[in-house]
Amino acid sequence: MLTTKPLKQFLKQSPYQAYVYSYPHKTAYRPLNPPINLTELWTQQDKQALFLYIHIPFCEMRCGFCNLFTTVTHNEDFVTQYIRTMQRQAQRVKTALGEASFARFALGGGTPTQLPVHHLETILNIAEETMGANLQQIPVSVEMSPETAHKDKLQLLRDRGVDRASIGVQSFIASEVLATQRRQTTPQVEAALTRMRAAGFPTINIDLIYGLPSQTVETWLKSILAALKFQPEEIYLYPLYVRPLTGLGCSDKEWDDNRISCYREGRSLLLSEGYTQVSMRMFRRREIKQEINSLVSPSSPIYCCQSDGMLGLGCGARSYTETLHYSNEYAVGSQEIRDILQAYMQTPDETFDYATYGFQLNIEEQRCRYILLSLLSDEGINFIAYQQRFQSDIYYDFPELIQLIDLELATPAEQKLTLTAKGMELSDSIGAWLFSEQVNQLIQTYNLK
Ligand SMILES: C[S@@+](CC[C@H](N)C(=O)[O-])C[C@H]1O[C@@H](n2cnc3c(N)ncnc32)[C@H](O)[C@@H]1O
Ligand code: SF4
Repeated sequence: MLTTKPLKQFLKQSPYQAYVYSYPHKTAYRPLNPPINLTELWTQQDKQALFLYIHIPFCEMRCGFCNLFTTVTHNEDFVTQYIRTMQRQAQRVKTALGEASFARFALGGGTPTQLPVHHLETILNIAEETMGANLQQIPVSVEMSPETAHKDKLQLLRDRGVDRASIGVQSFIASEVLATQRRQTTPQVEAALTRMRAAGFPTINIDLIYGLPSQTVETWLKSILAALKFQPEEIYLYPLYVRPLTGLGCSDKEWDDNRISCYREGRSLLLSEGYTQVSMRMFRRREIKQEINSLVSPSSPIYCCQSDGMLGLGCGARSYTETLHYSNEYAVGSQEIRDILQAYMQTPDETFDYATYGFQLNIEEQRCRYILLSLLSDEGINFIAYQQRFQSDIYYDFPELIQLIDLELATPAEQKLTLTAKGMELSDSIGAWLFSEQVNQLIQTYNLK
């Protein structure tokens, strides 16, 4: 199943092979023929601790680096039609889903706070009233940008139970921001962060990017220090990825070296400032873990990313069951995104009863997903949990994992395999190395639009 290439040889390539936040990537999805009925699909899934995700594919600008499913629009009718379509979709999907309990909710994009207050209210109502998620009892996260984090929107979100506000800043250096085609000024970013604090979110996350044009290790550290002034509970440090069809284009060894240096220096700075590393990109203030857990009511089920399902609403959102991942078609080019959005808004009600595009996970792919998601976070792979889930021995299924230990990229201790600091740094290579042959082939033959 796994790639046969020895890890040592695989690591000779750029360390930036793939950002594995889920497995497999959407470029491994294909049309499902015949389409799969959602009632039948979800009947077979444990629905006690689902993740509800709503996708808002709108932004005030298209950043040069961004390859997310989003479009720039200031057309109110278009946005209203999108929200109405999502209401229709939610009704049908909830009927298909039946009795279910949500353990987490996230509103992402794009930029959800680009929406006016009344649309944000409608979306929170969809989550609460149509889908039945109890937003005051479960962790709720919303993504926002500096220019759209207005006071009235923040207050609404906080009042309705949002406890994590995540803002894309990318850089505090004006020339770097300009090069990404973002419009924000640093005073605007600081004002937005001040408003977020004043609104009282228990968790604020700041996204920063390294490897930007003209960025040096020195300017990178300045951005991190500027972020630290706001004492965010979480910080994501993203290495810049430039994929085909996004606006910036450069790639060479020098760029890799710069990203590695930024990663190392940024990581040490955060560790010395009291943060703990959760994954290659994610850092959390050390005293926070406990507080976050206490936000969850004792009666609420805890979501587990390796095994629990995700229900996505909106165009571009993914849904996961144990055996099927599905979504709408994926694109990065602006016209193609528009076409997919138009098709979404014209979807007849009864078509929302089916998954039409996705990836079916056989038992090998389920195992592969499990080890990838566990290994690439500080949790590591728990051998006993793996055995209980799959009735199989981890080293029997993945003898390749020994290579990680031989190269000192992972350590086995207390029935767990966890990445070493060196392994964490190489997460984007180790992840890609663990992709199955089938997924590699699908990704390679995907026709990117
Ligand atoms: C949905 S956006 C965050 C909210 C909002 N849209 C914004 O940009 O302010 C998610 C994050 O993904 C990161 N990101 C997106 N495309 C990226 C790329 N090509 N390389 C690195 N990071 C990227 C950015 O840090 C961005 O903040
Ligand atoms: S980075 Fe954020 S604001 Fe920029 S295009 Fe992507 S989703 Fe939109």
